[in-house]
Order: sequence, then C-alpha cells, then structure tokens
Amino acid sequence: MARVLSGIQPSGNLTLGNYIGAMRNFVKLQHEHECYFMVVDLHAVTVPQEPEALREQSEAVAALFLAAGIDPLKANIFLQSHVPAHAELGWLMTTLVYMGELERMTQFKDKAAGKEAVGAGLFTYPALMAADILLYEADLVPVGDDQKQHLEITRDLAQRFNHRFGDCLKIPQPYIPEVGARIMSLDDATKKMSKSNPVAGSYIAMLDSPDVIRKKISRAVTDSGREVKYDPATKPEISNLIGIFAQCANIGVAEVEERFAGLGYGPFKKELAEQVVAVLEPIQQRYKEIRESGEIYDVLSKGAFNASQTANRTLTEVKRRMGFLLPPGQ
Ligand code: TYM
Repeated sequence: MARVLSGIQPSGNLTLGNYIGAMRNFVKLQHEHECYFMVVDLHAVTVPQEPEALREQSEAVAALFLAAGIDPLKANIFLQSHVPAHAELGWLMTTLVYMGELERMTQFKDKAAGKEAVGAGLFTYPALMAADILLYEADLVPVGDDQKQHLEITRDLAQRFNHRFGDCLKIPQPYIPEVGARIMSLDDATKKMSKSNPVAGSYIAMLDSPDVIRKKISRAVTDSGREVKYDPATKPEISNLIGIFAQCANIGVAEVEERFAGLGYGPFKKELAEQVVAVLEPIQQRYKEIRESGEIYDVLSKGAFNASQTANRTLTEVKRRMGFLLPPGQ
C-alpha cells in the first residue's frame, strides 16, 4: 500500500485554502493508502508563538483533522513534537542541505521580508520538512501549490543522501489538486488566502460562522464587468471565487459558468456563500463535539505510537549508513 504523509501548521485559524488545497485530499486518500497526517508544531515555532496559543491551536488543528473526516482508524493523526525522530532527522538533513538552496526558498524570503531578527529555524525549515516526509518513506505528499518548492528540495536531499550513502530514502511525489491548489485572498487575488493575513476579511476560516462567511463573500472583491467567467489571467478575482464554488459543489468550472450565465455577480456570490456554508457547517458541528468529548488525546497518543515505529526504523537506517555508532541491539 502506498504511503501518504502531510502536515499542517497549528498557527492561527485554518482557512478554506487549507481545506481545499490539502485537507480534503487527506480525507480522500485515507481510503486506499497508509496515511500519516500531522500537526507540525515544531515548524510553527520557527516564528514566535505564545505558549498558551500554541497548545490551543495544536489541539484545535488535530480536532479539525477529525472533524473534516479523517478517520483515526484509517489514518495516523499525531503531533510532530510527539515523535522525536523528526527533530533528529531534521538535524541530519540540515547537515546535507546547502545554504544557497535555503536562500532560494520563496517561503523564507516572504516570511523574513522586512524583519530585523529572523530565527535560524525559519531558514532551516525545509530541512525539517524533508525529514518529516522522508522518515515515513512517503510515496505521495498532498499539499497546495505553495509547498512545491519544499517538495523539490526534499526530493533533492533524498537523492543526495542516496548518492552519498547508498539507496535508502524513498523519493516522494507531490500530490497537488488541479483546481484549488492555490486559493487566493478575498481582498486581493494576487495573494494566496492565508491564516497569517491580519485582515480577517481576506480569508474564510474553517470555523467562521455561517453569517460571517456570508458577509465575507458578499464583500469579496470582484473584477469589473458582471460575467461569471473563469479566466484567471484577465479575471483573477471572479476566477478565484469560481474555483472555490467548483471545489465546494464538486463540479467543474464550466458547469459553474453555465449555471450563472447572464445572471451576474450578485446571485453567484449568494449561492457561493451557501455552498461554502454547506461544506463548513457540518465540519464545525463535529468539531464542537470532538473538542467537548476530549477524544483527541487518545487519537494523538495512538497516532504518535504508530508514527514513531515507522519513523524510528528509517532514522536508525539513516544513522547506520551515515556512520553513527549505534547502541547495542539496533
Ligand atoms: P501550511 O500549514 O501553511 O498549510 C497547510 C496546507 O494547506 C495548503 N494551503 C493552501 N492550499 C491552497 N490554497 C491556499 N490558499 C492554501 N494555503 C495553504 C498548503 O499548501 C499546505 O499543503 N510547510 C507546510 C507544513 C509542513 C508539511 C510537512 C507539509 C511541514 N512538514 C510535510 C507536507 C509534508 C506548511 O507550512 O503548510
């Protein structure tokens, strides 16, 4: 059975972009693959976090995995910090990666832009992410478009390791949806929808109430004109909304265009809001129940146990090949 691994940072509110670009595919893939889905709390601390907020967000994201439909009997759900092998292989990957490769990462450039003090962890972030993936010998990594460059560096590091120390690490493939891999901001279609955007109206959070969702969509910026036509080059704003509609309603963009031909933006936005509410409301309901029940602790502890078994096997093999003197019995 092919292996799947992916992660989501526990920073701020998860957005509809996280759901459409990544989480929805986690749910789809769990039926036919051995899956590992984690909350990447070690990555979250590459920028300053309030301890209490980090704890709350970590639990919230894990609960959202369940609420979105990931079944803990089918997939392993865990926190990255519960499996120490991540930090350890992350360090070893730091010794393999080149400064020049890290300097070229657009996520680093974006996050570091204009900051006076930038933590070294933000710079070496891709080495830890490579470790996350390689530990599980993942075949597929479901992510949004913005993670492509991180996947490329992961593949390069695996190849570099194999070349230097002998074939051992699996070369993973990204799994990126055709539509919805890059959901854009509601107030500016040149920026991706992001939980770190300080303007709350720019994104739809997975936990936004139906009324907030309706308000945000009604205020979403649209291109001039009134035709509901998918053309990202000339009509980026309405095309983004059409993409969201198509993903939420599980239909193609052509069908969305057809449905709203001649009707204009108003009726389209009204119906779009209802489609988004129809997707998120049941998730929110389940989320509430999951948080109240406390079942997440058990899920996380089983997930970390299983993940550790797989991760430790790879880590031991990597260390053996690199020439570390292993403890007796390993
Ligand atoms: P993160 O936490 O920023 O985002 C989690 C996932 O959501 C996708 N995503 C989007 N997709 C479409 N449109 C958007 N606007 C949008 N915003 C976010 C992201 O592409 C991602 O798939 N570095 C990763 C976390 C990570 C990871 C890993 C992922 C750490 N280790 C190992 C995969 C495998 C990140 O910051 O994602």
